Amino acid sequence: MDSKDYWAIAERDIEIQNPVTDRKLRLLDDYCDVRDGLSVLDIGCGKAWVMRRWAEQFDLRGTGLEINPAFAAFARQKAAERGLGDRLTFVDGPADAFTPEPGSYDIVICLGASFALGGFVPAVDWMVRAVRPGGTLVIGDVTLRHRPAVPRPELHLPHDAPDTIGVIERHGAVVSALISASDADYERYVSHHRHAVLEWARENPGHPDHDAALTQSRADWLHYLRAIRPLLGWTIFVARRDG
Ligand SMILES: C[S@@+](CC[C@H](N)C(=O)[O-])C[C@H]1O[C@@H](n2cnc3c(N)ncnc32)[C@H](O)[C@@H]1O
Repeated sequence: MDSKDYWAIAERDIEIQNPVTDRKLRLLDDYCDVRDGLSVLDIGCGKAWVMRRWAEQFDLRGTGLEINPAFAAFARQKAAERGLGDRLTFVDGPADAFTPEPGSYDIVICLGASFALGGFVPAVDWMVRAVRPGGTLVIGDVTLRHRPAVPRPELHLPHDAPDTIGVIERHGAVVSALISASDADYERYVSHHRHAVLEWARENPGHPDHDAALTQSRADWLHYLRAIRPLLGWTIFVARRDG
């Protein structure tokens, strides 16, 4: 099945499409010094909870890049309902097809979508070029917390937090704050996925994607239990570009 359709089902019940809670995400207001007049670029914005909330509170402009039409439509509709349609723009399609004016955004965010720009390191490179000198980068991703007792190359494990900070700093930005999902936060996030797909499958027994959705959900669930739960975490890194 098309992975966009799968994720539209798995994330149909949630607006924040990453493991961090709304309460923790509110810390970004201070860490990013969000205020009137700023411009924000959100890569893989999904339903754009963070950017929509900022636009409700501040007179800022935002652009969201999103490949899944279901998520972009949701974000657009919610923004219109709140009278934010003239300040928030959602660009449908792959993020790497978008060419930002170099150094043109005050804040560049990528929460859970670095793969859209080719992986963590290329994403940092792309984001640093898009943000103005002195502007803010917000990148949330999976991090390694516990090394496996025996090497597990098949798991393609990510960097740990110190190495992640090293990557960001080598690209000319200083990390000033971290926001991490707790084990319970991560468990809640993946449980929402599992619950939503199982419920959708019960509601749609004859759907052509029924079996494929269940197969994908089971694989994701086992990946969480076998790799994410024992070894990985999820952290947002907030950094200021030099200059
Ligand atoms: C884990 S979700 C995070 C969504 C949102 N940033 C949040 O934290 O709530 C990843 C998002 O990236 C989007 N995505 C995946 N590949 C993409 C691509 N090549 N270009 C743009 N968006 C992409 C997905 O559709 C999804 O909305």
